[in-house]
Amino acid sequence: MSALFIKELLSWNRVENKRTMPWKNETDPYKIWLSEIILQQTRVEQGWNYYLRFIEAFPTVQDLAAAPENKVFKLWEGLGYYSRCRNLIASAKTIVNDFNGIFPSSYEAILSLKGVGPYTAAAIASFAFNLPHAVVDGNVQRVLARYFGNQTPIDSTEGKKWFSEKAQELLSKKHPATYNQAIMDFGATVCKPQQPLCSDCPLQQHCAAFQTNTVSLLPVKSKKIVVRDRYLNYFALVYKKRVAIHLRTGKDVWQNLHEFALLESSTAATDTAALKKYLKQELKLSSFRIEEGADPIKHKLSHQTLHVKFYVVHVEIRPNLGKDFQWISRKEIELFAFPKVIVNYLPNLPL
Ligand code: ADE
Ligand code: SF4
Repeated sequence: MSALFIKELLSWNRVENKRTMPWKNETDPYKIWLSEIILQQTRVEQGWNYYLRFIEAFPTVQDLAAAPENKVFKLWEGLGYYSRCRNLIASAKTIVNDFNGIFPSSYEAILSLKGVGPYTAAAIASFAFNLPHAVVDGNVQRVLARYFGNQTPIDSTEGKKWFSEKAQELLSKKHPATYNQAIMDFGATVCKPQQPLCSDCPLQQHCAAFQTNTVSLLPVKSKKIVVRDRYLNYFALVYKKRVAIHLRTGKDVWQNLHEFALLESSTAATDTAALKKYLKQELKLSSFRIEEGADPIKHKLSHQTLHVKFYVVHVEIRPNLGKDFQWISRKEIELFAFPKVIVNYLPNLPL
């Protein structure tokens, strides 16, 4: 079975794989690393242009390490999961300061970089240095679960062990880069999560799931992720054509991005009394007028759904919001990085 799988996969790759992507066949570890960090939680189509803009703005790890952080965040704006961007900056500095500016070339050293887990380390090690480390992610697990008909839950200890051992066994030790990219491309374009192209698949004859009609049941997952609802009420305080923003800190979504005054609740805020109380008591506003925005925007993350609602608050006397806030004009907006939901809202501001 294993030998057949390898043969069939590599033959598919040689003959039928038409997928092109800007980082494919790249061997510069810096560029591969950049692409892999972008692709950790982002679809290929969405990450594509971000990757091109990043390598244009920062062609080398030295350029990235020396860049003002806000410039890097601005370029990341809209990609989400911003801890990736923080780790990118931190690791670029590590490479310049601790590795003499030379991208580490062993699996262990690559794995030691912030934001680099076993999957990303295997991708960089194989693509840049042809080291024999198999990539194992959801795509790979799905392909293997189906082809080998394995029903062990992929999120169980036993399952994780089986899938990573199987992936490592199958890896072509002579051509790890080609093999790793082939299985990723196969999982993304043929053996897809939904509506896999089984009827045209050159592996179907020996695919256990296809032969037993269990494709749609595989891979098996044991845990359901719990998704939490959060309600974010943003108050764009506007005074003399300027809006008050501050930097978002703390271990939470959108760390290091900017936002307006925020009242968060765990249920939908329907009564304006609570909102007014916040403006009066927390922000110490005295004379103001609230302009209600459009319906809340739903922003889905892996473990939470954010319901984001915007209000414009016109203030007549400039309130003292403390040193964390700053008042910016429309022209200054481009100097700050914001979460995508806020970026989309910015044109509506009465500035
Ligand atoms: N996802 C993560 N790494 C990838 C790569 N190198 N090509 C395509 N999709 C990917
Ligand atoms: Fe995947 Fe279907 Fe091909 Fe089996 S036959 S490997 S399930 S695409």
